[in-house]
Amino acid sequence: MRRPKTGLGRGLHRARAGRAAVHGQVSGPEPAAEAPLFEFDPAAEGSGLPDAPDPLAPAEESPWGPPPVIEVRSLIKTYGHGDAAVHALSGEEDPVTGAPAGIDLVVEQGDFVAVMGSSGSGKSTLMNILGCLDVPTVGRYLLDGIDVGGLDEHQLSLVRNRKIGFVFQSFNLVPRVPARAQVELPLAYAGVKTAERRRRAEAALTLVGLADRMDHRPNQLSGGQQQRVAVARALVTAPAMLLADEPTGNLDSHSTEEVLAIVDRLNASGRTVVLITHEDEVARHAKRVLRLVDGRVVSDVRQAPVDGPPPAIAATVPAQRQALTGGAGS
Ligand SMILES: Nc1ncnc2c1ncn2[C@@H]1O[C@H](COP(=O)(O)OP(=O)(O)O)[C@@H](O)[C@H]1O
Ligand SMILES: [Mg+2]
Repeated sequence: MRRPKTGLGRGLHRARAGRAAVHGQVSGPEPAAEAPLFEFDPAAEGSGLPDAPDPLAPAEESPWGPPPVIEVRSLIKTYGHGDAAVHALSGEEDPVTGAPAGIDLVVEQGDFVAVMGSSGSGKSTLMNILGCLDVPTVGRYLLDGIDVGGLDEHQLSLVRNRKIGFVFQSFNLVPRVPARAQVELPLAYAGVKTAERRRRAEAALTLVGLADRMDHRPNQLSGGQQQRVAVARALVTAPAMLLADEPTGNLDSHSTEEVLAIVDRLNASGRTVVLITHEDEVARHAKRVLRLVDGRVVSDVRQAPVDGPPPAIAATVPAQRQALTGGAGS
């Protein structure tokens, strides 16, 4: 085993031993990114999380540091069979056998990765697998040290709730529900008590600049504000990773900048971000840019170090320093 001490085996053991006490949505046979991620179940309110050992706790620190947030090995996704098979993700061909070798991808904690590629290149397929909304045909996926291939549907829904904050192009807010309650939903689903989830939802909405819009419903908010509610909902559970599919695809340039500035700040404070986009302007914000063509990763370019600020924030630092030193330079 490559990383013998990540607690992976133990994690799986716990996963099997864990009690099923939280009601959650179980995805159907063809999970889609647009499906509702959380179902509000009033009966689950205040039920609390199981007090058995947490099957989804992060793997313990190994001598090599924390596990990557994403570790994908030899990943292949094929839709259909035989002549009708579509190889949505296949990786490079083995030079000897010609067989697809699959995609390898490691994303470290704190990275900010943009996944680019033209329509049909496999971006959404990759997003659905990374988001545990779909499973690979071949290969392994370790999310925050957990081998998600070993989890059942219920455990996968827990992983989605606890490990991933989703942001979609179309916001996916619940109609007629005020912003505060939207952001409380994933906490309600996780069994967090009323007062605590209200406190956390308000903190998250304040973080995205919507402290004065807590009681507004989606139809009372601009597109940019709706997406900021969605970002607050994504981050309120303190997930291991923010996973965003074209989050600015429906926004004007001003709202795009507002939302990206929030994502920049979240990443600067340590949150791992994986963002799908076809816009160069958006990809410029990432520390690393992957390009997909026909289910293969054709380039993987680092724009900024994992352990530093993302490019847009790094660019503002010299300006601030100059302002502080009165432009004298130092
Ligand atoms: N459910 C599906 N059934 C069959 N083929 C699919 C399905 N989903 C995606 N594909 C095919 O897989 C390839 C990659 O699709 P997708 O991941 O949606 O690309 P992108 O998001 O980059 O536009 C495309 O050829 C697409 O037609
Ligand atoms: Mg797509």
